[in-house]
Amino acid sequence: MTYVPAPGRYDAMAYRRSGRSGLRLPAVCLGLWQNFGADHPLETARAVIRRAFDLGITHFDLANNYGPPPGSAEETFGRVLGSDLRAHRDELIVSTKAGYDMWPGPYGEWGSRKYLLASLDQSLRRMGLDHVDIFYSHRFDPDTPLEETMGALDSAVRQGKARYVGISSYSAERTREAARILDQLGTRLLIHQPSYSMLNRWVEGGLLDTLSELGVGCIVFSPLAQGLLTDRYLDGTPEGSRATRPGPLATTMLSEANLAKVRALNAIAGRRGQTLAQMAIAWVLRSPTVTSALIGASSVAQLEQNVAVLDHLDFDGAELDEIDRYATEGGINIWERSSTS
Ligand SMILES: NC(=O)c1ccc[n+]([C@@H]2O[C@H](COP(=O)([O-])OP(=O)(O)OC[C@H]3O[C@@H](n4cnc5c(N)ncnc54)[C@H](OP(=O)(O)O)[C@@H]3O)[C@@H](O)[C@H]2O)c1
Repeated sequence: MTYVPAPGRYDAMAYRRSGRSGLRLPAVCLGLWQNFGADHPLETARAVIRRAFDLGITHFDLANNYGPPPGSAEETFGRVLGSDLRAHRDELIVSTKAGYDMWPGPYGEWGSRKYLLASLDQSLRRMGLDHVDIFYSHRFDPDTPLEETMGALDSAVRQGKARYVGISSYSAERTREAARILDQLGTRLLIHQPSYSMLNRWVEGGLLDTLSELGVGCIVFSPLAQGLLTDRYLDGTPEGSRATRPGPLATTMLSEANLAKVRALNAIAGRRGQTLAQMAIAWVLRSPTVTSALIGASSVAQLEQNVAVLDHLDFDGAELDEIDRYATEGGINIWERSSTS
């Protein structure tokens, strides 16, 4: 059946400015890292993407390697774009990234100009697009001059293949350098994409202050700690959940110590009249430096629950103090190597 987007799709979503740029992003954005590869049914992926757009989610985040297999999430997105959203391309902010392992040999990962620009061309082909809205360096490369990596991002914009550029999981110091180099080239750094959640608070150690000072936006990924900060694992590990699949949510992250924190946080969320997933998203959005929470969802029901966070974003001081007692490092930041290089 032909998809007709909900006429009221812009009524309820909040749009927040990315740093001191002209671009506003939805407070909740959808990422296609895990549930949109060729190993997942296309119809589920399509339903989640359509529902997201109906709920005012204009920003979809991808990367060259999302799947599995790598590249297949971009292909899925390209198919849904082609069948349902083509007429709405200018209502969408589509991002992609390059940095992690994508193809064999010395030019298939990290931060060289050769890799970044070839990867962007491949991403555009997979999605059937002539440009993305944001192109990211996915991780800091300690062995490539930052001038080369940022120069490639600048070239992507000048070639008309990206409207804006971003970086992901860079330290505060490297972010400052990247922003300076891009400024010199004449392309402003739009946004930083770091991990951030109640169990992974590294951005509070300087990165958020740096972004605020530089006027760079911040879209935080995995605010639900890949599902840990929801009710998903409160009564064991359900079949089909991310923790049952080989991949980034190691069962060691579901430690008794982490689950004890999750139970305590779940009780606080209940007293606020919201789910733990909703409180976890509201909590990352409490910082004015954070533009958006970048979530994943494996079903329309999860997506709807998460977007309903917009009904209750505020916290009082006592709630934040109580959350601080349990919102402590959970050993889940698997992207730390990039931000400490
Ligand atoms: N830049 C980077 O290096 C980087 C790295 C990671 C992620 N990202 C971006 O961030 C996006 C989000 O990452 P993420 O998927 O880890 O985010 P997340 O929002 O922390 O976790 C999403 C997962 O949590 C579970 N979930 C979501 N809502 C739920 C609910 N209401 N109740 C119960 N469970 C719920 C689902 O797991 P189940 O599958 O078990 O249902 C879902 O797949 C990615 O798609 C990607 O765009 C970027």
